[in-house]
Amino acid sequence: MKQSYHLGLIGFPVGHSRSPQMMKAAFEGMGLYGSTYQSLSIQREDLEKEWKVRLWEQWDGCNVTIPHKVAVLDLLDEIDETAKEIEAVNTIVNIDGKKIGYNTDGEGYLRSLEEELSLDITKQRVFIVGAGGAARAVATVLAKAGVTSITFYNRTTSKAEQLARHVSRWTDSQIVTQVDAWEAIQTSTLLVNTTSVGMAPNSECTPIPVQWLHDGLIVSDLIYNPRKTKLLTYAEEMGCQIHNGLGMLVHQAAIALKIWTGMDAPVVTMRDALEKSLKE
Ligand code: ATR
Repeated sequence: MKQSYHLGLIGFPVGHSRSPQMMKAAFEGMGLYGSTYQSLSIQREDLEKEWKVRLWEQWDGCNVTIPHKVAVLDLLDEIDETAKEIEAVNTIVNIDGKKIGYNTDGEGYLRSLEEELSLDITKQRVFIVGAGGAARAVATVLAKAGVTSITFYNRTTSKAEQLARHVSRWTDSQIVTQVDAWEAIQTSTLLVNTTSVGMAPNSECTPIPVQWLHDGLIVSDLIYNPRKTKLLTYAEEMGCQIHNGLGMLVHQAAIALKIWTGMDAPVVTMRDALEKSLKE
């Protein structure tokens, strides 16, 4: 087993990411002193060039974020089954020059949900706001975990339709537009915001009108900055159980660390480091 790893994050922009602070705490907790985790800002059009020229000179692996999660699929030597199903990659391991892609976002979300809330996944009627990459990972994993149904609501309806078709092999799925969204939410049990609406610095916005919520809902927001979005604040006031994106960020990273190192990551230490970095 290696004593230290050189890892990183590629995306654009990556300056706001708290992953380096979280990974530093993880390396210390795992005794992997001398390991590094570096953010590398790569624009969409530069990915292929950087991939060939610079990226793999030193790195043992990396995380991938917006806008490269789908684009890297074409550059990899091998893609793990889950990443194939989600059709996106957020973790790459470099084994002797062979690059293998994984997706830990969906499993990270599921672990966080199960850890923070006591709920029977198979009884959930899920309403997902958004139909981008994050929605794809969350919807695929929830559908495979056996939720009762998933309803998608997205600004661009065609993307919601595509995602509903994608998960229909595992669960009941449908889309709604603004006209019938309220009604669909009234019969839902778990509402998940996967869009960036409400993220700092635009934290006054909500992805749906808050009047659509009801007190029988669990409201889950993938955003972790702010920790309590406007959506979650209203939901809590209304008596809903709430869940934010911090746990997903920690668990997707912990699963990635296990893939890279074979070791269990210190999730409590990582979460503490993340919370601390968000207060700074
Ligand atoms: P990610 O990988 O984080 O999911 P993405 O693939 O760019 O990022 O998807 C972002 C999602 O947030 C999409 O569903 C997007 O809606 P569109 O499909 O219509 O683009 C949604 N989104 C982003 N900004 C939004 C806004 N201001 N209002 C409503 N939806 C928004």
